[in-house]
Amino acid sequence: SNDFCEAGALYGAAGCGISPPLSSAKLLIKGGTVVNAHHQEVADVYVQDGVIVTVRPNLKVGDDVQVLDATGKLVMPGGIDPHTHLAMEFMGTETIDDFFSGQAAALAGGTTMHIDFVIPVNGSLTAGIEAYERKAHKSCMDYGFHMAITKWDEDVSRDMEIMVKEKGINSFKFFLAYKGSLMISDELLLDGLKRCKSLGALAMVHAENGDAVFEGQNRMIELGITGPEGHALSRPPVLEAEATARAIRLASFVNTPLYVVHVMSIDAMEEIAKARKSGQKVVGEPVVSGLVLDDSKLWDPDFSIASKYVMSPPIRAPGHAKALQAALSTGILQLVGTDHCAFNSTQKAFGIDDFRKIPNGVNGIEERMHLVWDTMVETGQMSVTDYVRITSTECARIFNIYPRKGAILAGSDADIIIFNPNSSVGISARSHHSRTDTNVYEGRRGKGKVEVTIAGGRVVWINDELKVSPGSGKYVEMPPFNYLFSGVDKADDSYLASLNAPVKRSKSTRCRGEVD
Ligand code: URP
Ligand code: ZN
Ligand code: ZN
Ligand code: ZN
Repeated sequence: SNDFCEAGALYGAAGCGISPPLSSAKLLIKGGTVVNAHHQEVADVYVQDGVIVTVRPNLKVGDDVQVLDATGKLVMPGGIDPHTHLAMEFMGTETIDDFFSGQAAALAGGTTMHIDFVIPVNGSLTAGIEAYERKAHKSCMDYGFHMAITKWDEDVSRDMEIMVKEKGINSFKFFLAYKGSLMISDELLLDGLKRCKSLGALAMVHAENGDAVFEGQNRMIELGITGPEGHALSRPPVLEAEATARAIRLASFVNTPLYVVHVMSIDAMEEIAKARKSGQKVVGEPVVSGLVLDDSKLWDPDFSIASKYVMSPPIRAPGHAKALQAALSTGILQLVGTDHCAFNSTQKAFGIDDFRKIPNGVNGIEERMHLVWDTMVETGQMSVTDYVRITSTECARIFNIYPRKGAILAGSDADIIIFNPNSSVGISARSHHSRTDTNVYEGRRGKGKVEVTIAGGRVVWINDELKVSPGSGKYVEMPPFNYLFSGVDKADDSYLASLNAPVKRSKSTRCRGEVD
């Protein structure tokens, strides 16, 4: 169709081999090890009309069924990326991957759903969602939306309810950084946290102190440091830790769950660890760049290399990544995103004379599943079941779409990967499917390979070829009041009870001779 060719063209050079999905309503995945977050076993998986019908060993099916042999391979839920920015207008430009090219890249890397951030238009949520609904029209895989809150008034407060009750959004992101554009005040954060709580929506924060970042940037410019290294130097871990701690404490004060996006430093991670240890409901999301890269490339004399590593919070000094991996393997951090926010080298060059103008963001939507496997499972830090949990299941639970997503169970959507742990992959801008001309993971090799991706029951990636068509992806509505909210009412009750407790106000009574 016309739409298809158009998207194929948008898709760029790598789109030459693109073809429509293999249409088979019935599919049998035979003989693989089926891995869920709770359990793994050798079984066949039978799929019909986009849904998993049966998971059981030795299934017999008719000959109208397409059979995929998965012997010796792992059959896992497709990845869910909780953090992406496709077709986002940001820092004077727009991210290079749109909802088609970014999703095609995702599918080639074994991710079958992502949750993108709707950015309001001049603060308006309704204008924002309309714009993103249009952008997402060409989707070739399932997706959901978070929404950013960038200003506060009665319209925004009212529209948050509309987003939750009518639009299937159950999470709102507050930026404590990007002064002068997306950044909000503590006052707004408090209003937002209260509103999120009453709606059963999850509050998310980009945790860096934007005022201090501004100060740090001025400091670098005054010192004559204008290159990409100035980006890292201007916003050190202490500013991430401060904002993380502040958001955590305000969420505690309001008594509502909090999700900290892109945890990049030991300092921020330790704030999350402390809060969780005290019983607070805080979710920490590391991203692939933070788990596998370090900041050394920001000092590369070649601007085109250094600038591609600019993202916020910055990729940190060696040592942080290892600590974040350990935090992930021990449950201090719960799931992995990418913050896929790709710009090409022409866009990155906007900041050739001034690091403050380099569009912030790195790629990763295609690489996440492979790099997390290589970094966490191949190194012995994590089991295969835990891999499924952090790449898929926990995301589905947090955003309240489990077990429709994030599981290989009868009744779940047929979003499935066949993973060969004995194969390997190489990463390069020459072969990746994103539209960006660079890759922050250029030259890396990883053990393990996503050989087949099945999205909504369709084989969309096989034999290193994509078979996708625009419009085939579905919007996934996410209901409010996820499991993190289950204790909130009771905690409020005990808080109120503690304020009115006779023991507190009747000191005189007890002094009159009451016995404890
Ligand atoms: O540098 C980044 N992270 N760009 C995307 C916007 C954001 O802060 O998530
Ligand atoms: Zn952010
Ligand atoms: Zn982001
Ligand atoms: Zn007394």
